[in-house]
Amino acid sequence: MLLTNTLLSIVTTTTLLLSHSTKALEIDLDDIDSLRNATSLVAYGLMDYYTGNQYGKTIGMFSDPYYWWEAGGAWGSMLDYWYYMDNDTYNDEIMAALLHQTGDNNDYVPLNQSTTEGNDDQAFWGIAVMTAAERNFTNPPEDSPQWLYLAQAVFNTMALRWDGDTCGGGLRWQIFVWNSGYDYKNTVSNGALFHMAARLARYTGNQSYVDWAEKVYDWMYEVGLVSNGSSMFVYDGVNIANNCSTITPYQWTYNHGLVMAGAAYLYNFTENEVWHNRTKMLVDASTVFFNNSIMYEAACQGPNSCNTDQRSFKAYFSRFLGATAQLVPETRSKILPLINASAIAAGKSCSGGTDGHTCGLNWFIGDWDGMYGLGEQMCALEVMVNTRCLHKPAPYTSTNGGSSVGDGAAGTEHHPTNLAPLHITKGSRAGAGIITAVIGISILACALWLVF
Ligand SMILES: *[C@@H]1O[C@H](CO)[C@@H](O)[C@H](O)[C@H]1NC(C)=O
Ligand SMILES: *[C@@H]1O[C@H](CO)[C@@H](O)[C@H](O)[C@H]1NC(C)=O
Ligand SMILES: *[C@@H]1O[C@H](CO)[C@@H](O)[C@H](O)[C@H]1NC(C)=O
Ligand SMILES: *[C@@H]1O[C@H](CO)[C@@H](O)[C@H](O)[C@H]1NC(C)=O
Ligand SMILES: *[C@@H]1O[C@H](CO)[C@@H](O)[C@H](O)[C@H]1NC(C)=O
Ligand SMILES: *[C@@H]1O[C@H](CO)[C@@H](O)[C@H](O)[C@H]1NC(C)=O
Ligand SMILES: *[C@@H]1O[C@H](CO)[C@@H](O)[C@H](O)[C@H]1NC(C)=O
Ligand SMILES: *[C@@H]1O[C@H](CO)[C@@H](O)[C@H](O)[C@H]1NC(C)=O
Ligand SMILES: *[C@@H]1O[C@H](CO)[C@@H](O)[C@H](O)[C@H]1NC(C)=O
Ligand SMILES: *[C@@H]1O[C@H](CO)[C@@H](O)[C@H](O)[C@H]1NC(C)=O
Ligand SMILES: *[C@@H]1O[C@H](CO)[C@@H](O)[C@H](O)[C@H]1NC(C)=O
Repeated sequence: MLLTNTLLSIVTTTTLLLSHSTKALEIDLDDIDSLRNATSLVAYGLMDYYTGNQYGKTIGMFSDPYYWWEAGGAWGSMLDYWYYMDNDTYNDEIMAALLHQTGDNNDYVPLNQSTTEGNDDQAFWGIAVMTAAERNFTNPPEDSPQWLYLAQAVFNTMALRWDGDTCGGGLRWQIFVWNSGYDYKNTVSNGALFHMAARLARYTGNQSYVDWAEKVYDWMYEVGLVSNGSSMFVYDGVNIANNCSTITPYQWTYNHGLVMAGAAYLYNFTENEVWHNRTKMLVDASTVFFNNSIMYEAACQGPNSCNTDQRSFKAYFSRFLGATAQLVPETRSKILPLINASAIAAGKSCSGGTDGHTCGLNWFIGDWDGMYGLGEQMCALEVMVNTRCLHKPAPYTSTNGGSSVGDGAAGTEHHPTNLAPLHITKGSRAGAGIITAVIGISILACALWLVF
C-alpha cells in the first residue's frame, strides 16, 4: 500500500443515508443453516463491489477506491466463504481472478501494479493462493501456474529483497526505490514473509522455509517490532534512519494475526516448544483488540479514523485466529469464545444500506453504524465463517490432502521481478540509480506529453 493511498482514503463514508431497516442478521451458532443464510447475504454484498465481471473492467479488481492489495485480501475471504460454508457459487470467479492477476512472471507483480506495488501488496495475493493450496481448492488448468507455485514465487521474490545492508536485515515496505515508504521496514511486509515461510514449511516439509521464518522473526524481535512476555505486542514498523531505532508503535489486528498464525503454523509443523509459547503469548496479547469479547480495530475505531485499507484488517485477523485455533489446540478455549461473540455482534451490524443487510464497521452497538464498504463486508464474512473453524479440516499439506504442486525455485527462473538495489552488487548501484532516474524521467515525460 502506498502512503498516499492511505492518506487519500477516508472518502467513502459520507454518502449513504439510505433506508435503514432494522432487520439485522441474527446468527444462531448452533444452527448451520442460519449461518449459511446470513453469510450468503454478506458474501453477496461483498461481491457487489466486484467489477471485474463487467464489460471493460479488469478481472480480479474491485471498484474504486479499493486498491489491488485489498482485492487479494478479498479473494482470500471468498475462499474462506467457499470452504467453511460449502458454497461454490463464486468459485469460477475466484479462480479467474487469482489467475488473471499473476503478472507475466507468475509472481503477483503484474505490470499494471508494478509502479506502486509494495511487498505487503504482493504478499496478500500470495496468502490467497497459499490458502487455495491448503484448502485443496480446484487446481488451475495444467497450462496455468499452480497455487503452490504462485505462493512460492511470491515468497522467493520477497525473500530476494531481504536487505542486510541496513538495520541488520529486514524487508523494506516498498519494492521500488522511487516509492515513498522505501525507507520504512514494516511489520506487514516482514510479518507476511514470516507468515508465508511458516505456511510453506508446513505444506512442503522443506526445512529451508523454517530457517527463513526464524531469520525473519529474529530480526523483527531484535529491532523491537515484536515484543515478548505477558504483553506480546506487534508494532507497525521502523524507519531505517538511525539503524531502525525508532518504532512506529501502532498495533493493527492484521499484523498481530500474521505473526500469531505464522507462529501457530510453525509450532504445528516443528512441534518446537518455543513456537508453542510464542503462539500462546500472542493469543493472550490479542485481547488488546477485543472489548467485552467483541473485536475492534483499536488503533483507529476509537478515534473513528479508519481508512479504506484499515477497514478490512479485522477480516485477516479473524481468518488468522481461526487458523491458529485449528493448528494449536491449546488456544481453542481462548479463541472460540472471542470469534463467536464477535460473529454474533458483527451480524447485528449488518442491518444497513438499501439491501437492509449491509455490514458496518463498529460491532459494539448492536446495529449498523452507517459505515459500509468492501472491508466491512470482508470482516463480517470472515468472523462469521471462522466460527466453523473446528468443524472443518485444518489446512492440508502436500502429504495429507493438498494436491497443489509447486517448485522451490518458483519466481527465480527468469530475471526476478525485483528491482530493489540490494541485490545489485555494490559496483552496479550507480546502474540502479540510473535506471530509477530513467524511469522517473520517462514518467515525467509521459505526464508532460499528456498535458500538452
Ligand atoms: C462457537 O461456535 C461454534 C460453531 O457453532 C461452536 O462449534 C463452538 O462450540 C462455539 N464455541 C464457543 C466457545 O462458544
Ligand atoms: C435459510 O433460508 C432458507 C431458504 O430461504 C429457509 O427456508 C430457511 O428457513 C432459512 N433457515 C434459517 C435458519 O434461517
Ligand atoms: C450460496 O451463496 C450464494 C451467494 O451468496 C447464495 O445466493 C446461495 O443461496 C448460497 N447457497 C446456499 C445453499 O446457502
Ligand atoms: C491491465 O490493465 C488493462 C487496462 O485497464 C486491462 O485491460 C488488463 O486486463 C490489465 N491486466 C491485468 C493483468 O490486470
Ligand atoms: C543495527 O541494528 C541491528 C538490528 O537491531 C543490530 O543487529 C546491529 O548491531 C545494529 N548496528 C549498530 C551499528 O548499532
Ligand atoms: C523473550 O524472548 C527471548 C528470545 O526468544 C527469550 O529468551 C526470553 O525468555 C523471552 N522472555 C519471556 C518473558 O518470554
Ligand atoms: C515455555 O513456557 C513455559 C511456561 O512459561 C516455560 O517453562 C518454558 O521454559 C518455555 N519454553 C521455552 C522453550 O521457551
Ligand atoms: C467497550 O464497549 C462498551 C460498551 O459495550 C463501550 O461503552 C466502550 O466505549 C467500549 N470501549 C472502547 C475502548 O471502545
Ligand atoms: C496440528 O494441527 C492438527 C489439526 O488441527 C492437530 O490435530 C494437531 O494436534 C496439531 N499439532 C500440534 C503439535 O498441536
Ligand atoms: C484434493 O484434490 C484432488 C484433485 O482434485 C483430489 O483428488 C483429492 O481427493 C482432494 N483431496 C481432498 C482431501 O479433498
Ligand atoms: C526448499 O526450499 C528452498 C528455498 O525456497 C529451495 O531453494 C529448495 O529448492 C527447496 N528444496 C526442495 C527439495 O524443494
